[in-house]
This record gives sequence, C-alpha cells and structure tokens, in this order.
Amino acid sequence: MTRIIAVAMQKGGVGKTTTAINLAAALTELGQRVLAIDLDPQGNLTQHAGFDPDQISPTIYDAFKAEMDGYESDVSQAIYESDEGFHLLPSQPELSLIELGLINTLSRERVLATMLENVAADYDTILIDCNPSLGLLVINALTVASSVIIPIQTEYLAARGALMILKSIETVRRKKLNPGLAIEGILLTMADTRTTLTRDILAAIENQYGNGIRIFDAIIKRSVRFAESAVAGQSILAYEPKGRGAEAYRQVAQEIVTGG
Ligand SMILES: Nc1ncnc2c1ncn2[C@@H]1O[C@H](COP(=O)(O)OP(=O)(O)O)[C@@H](O)[C@H]1O
Ligand SMILES: [Mg+2]
Repeated sequence: MTRIIAVAMQKGGVGKTTTAINLAAALTELGQRVLAIDLDPQGNLTQHAGFDPDQISPTIYDAFKAEMDGYESDVSQAIYESDEGFHLLPSQPELSLIELGLINTLSRERVLATMLENVAADYDTILIDCNPSLGLLVINALTVASSVIIPIQTEYLAARGALMILKSIETVRRKKLNPGLAIEGILLTMADTRTTLTRDILAAIENQYGNGIRIFDAIIKRSVRFAESAVAGQSILAYEPKGRGAEAYRQVAQEIVTGG
C-alpha cells in the first residue's frame, strides 16, 4: 500500500517545503521508494531538490492542463530522479493558473488523484508539498492523501485561526471526498531551544480542536543550516548528515513508519 502524505498548512513560511524534502530524503535513507510532489507554483521544493522551476519541462502543470482540457495525462513523463535517490514531480510558475482553471473542471477535487493512479503503486510513500492556501490545489492534495502533516511554528499556534487547515480536512471528510483522511500529526518547526512547552501546546490544541491529534515527539529546532541547504539544492540529510536538523527529520520519518 502506498502511503500518500500531504504536507499542508494555510500559512507560508512555516516549514512545509523543508519538511517535505527532508522527509523524502529520510524515508529514502530508510530504503523506501519515495516520490515528492511539488504542488506549489512557487516551485520551492523543485528548487530545493536541485532543479530549476523556470526551466524544467514537463512538470505537474502539464498533467493538470491535459486533464483540464479533457485528455488523459501521463504524469510519469514529468517524474525526475533527484541526486539523493527520491523521485520528484516538479512544479512551474504557471501552476498558479490551474487553481482558477479547476473551478470549471469536472470532478475538480479529484484531478490529482486521477493523475496519480498510474504511478502511485511504484512508491512506498508519496509526499505532497502544498501551497500556502486552502484553495483547490490543496483540496486536491487532501482528497488523494491518506494522511496530513501540519507543520507549524510554536509561536503561531496561539494565533486566531492558526489551524484553519483542520477545518478543510474536516470538510474533505464530511463531503465524502476522502472520508478516511487521517492526521499524521502536527510538527513543531523552527522551535527555539527554550520552547519546551509541548505539553501546554498539546493541551491547548486538545482544548480547541478535540483530542486525538498527534504532535510528533520530534521537534524541529531553528537552524540557519536549513536555509543553507535549500540554497545548495540539497536536503539537510545530504548537507549536514550528522547535524541536529538531519537527526530531527530522521526521527520524524521513524515516527511515521512506526506509527507512533
Ligand atoms: N527549522 C528551521 N529553522 C530555520 N529556518 C528554517 C527551518 N525550517 C525551514 N526554514 C527556512 O524558513 C523558510 C521557510 O520554510 P519553508 O519550508 O519554505 O516554508 P513553507 O513551505 O511553509 O513556506 C525557508 O527559507 C527555510 O529554509
Ligand atoms: Mg513551501
């Protein structure tokens, strides 16, 4: 069975892309066949994996375009192997046009699911890096996913509507787009060393959103190495294999694989 994990959060700059690429690398290290999908027109994941979103072609955009025009897409044409061994389905800036175009498309929430039908079985895990919104691209990701990882900065958790993404997840379940959609967990990112308030945060989340939502034991601390690795076009596991950041993402991968 292929596990499809959407990395989603409506806010930008919380560590979605960083989480997607580093989990792709960490799961590859564990021997899994991994596909990382860039579902953000900004193409940060594509870049982080060492490709140029302005040059690479075809991309996921072409597959969406074909489906919207009423043709059958062949997404395998747009899958590339990264230096680190995992596969990448890249994005390009024009993907931003898809969000609007989908509105008039038949079964608009299931286009990504249809596209992935022929390739999903080739992978143990597929990670989808979502754009920072609650729009149709994200709904497509939530519809095809088996679970969701929600990265969030600890400080931001207190903000009003911090976890609006949970509402979208609930909607996708309720509207029967994907009744079995699970929450893999909330991942605390960019934490400062002093922030050891996990227990309080957990209590606050349970209070606000009901219990049963896992918070990963692994916490991703703030480190300038992450930005450096992005510029280098490498995962943190390749950039600084023995560093704290690499270890933290290995631990998240371990928690996903063992289910707790
Ligand atoms: N743990 C971290 N510590 C410090 N900087 C980080 C960390 N994780 C990510 N970053 C940096 O913060 C910025 C936003 O992260 P990113 O993963 O692109 O967020 P998103 O995809 O949610 O917009 C990037 O420059 C990234 O390199
Ligand atoms: Mg991103």
